[in-house]
Amino acid sequence: MSDTHDNDVSPNVVFHAGTVTREQRIAATGNEGMTIWLTGLSGSGKSTVAVAIEQELVTAGRVAYLLDGDNLRHGLNGDLGFDAASRQENVRRAGEVAVLFADAGAVAIVPLISPYRADRDRVRARHADLGLRFVEVFVDTPIELCEARDVKGLYAKARAGEITGFTGVDDPYEAPLDAEFVITPDSTPTDAARSVIRQLRL
Ligand code: ADX
Repeated sequence: MSDTHDNDVSPNVVFHAGTVTREQRIAATGNEGMTIWLTGLSGSGKSTVAVAIEQELVTAGRVAYLLDGDNLRHGLNGDLGFDAASRQENVRRAGEVAVLFADAGAVAIVPLISPYRADRDRVRARHADLGLRFVEVFVDTPIELCEARDVKGLYAKARAGEITGFTGVDDPYEAPLDAEFVITPDSTPTDAARSVIRQLRL
């Protein structure tokens, strides 16, 4: 991969390209990488569908790797909060890691609330610039249902004012306008995962 993306903070760095081409990697591993990005409210079921996609793909012999928003916040993104700038940076970093996994031949599966359309679009553009496949999956679960589930008890805390800036309660969520896939609560996570995999011909 050769990346000519400019960086204002460290201008005097030059991309050192390797000699292995993407075609060589695909020939060696039999895998072409890509990114499956899942966006939706907390409790919408993004992670559950993402886990099912990863399980189905690995069982079928593909290299697939889950980059879950909550999990990344335990490591790489552990220094970020939930204000708009932090969410933007959270999405940017996850997108950059996904690019690397996809370039290496893995299917990067990224469930992140990623509430801002512009942030998601930037990740899409990064993939396009680097010639990598990217699809957006909108896990379209109404907030009433997410809140009724409240698996982590966070909606209750947000309503009680114990958490401020909670997505969907007192922080925005910008739904995708043209996601490649829309998943509704009508389908089970496994069926939704299989449908995405089938349509992507993975
Ligand atoms: S994102 O908005 O920056 O994309 P991300 O997907 O990484 O969010 O993390 C969301 C998870 O953090 C939620 O599933 C929830 O468990 C937890 N969380 C804690 N505080 C908030 C908040 N203010 N808004 C949304 N999610 C929060």
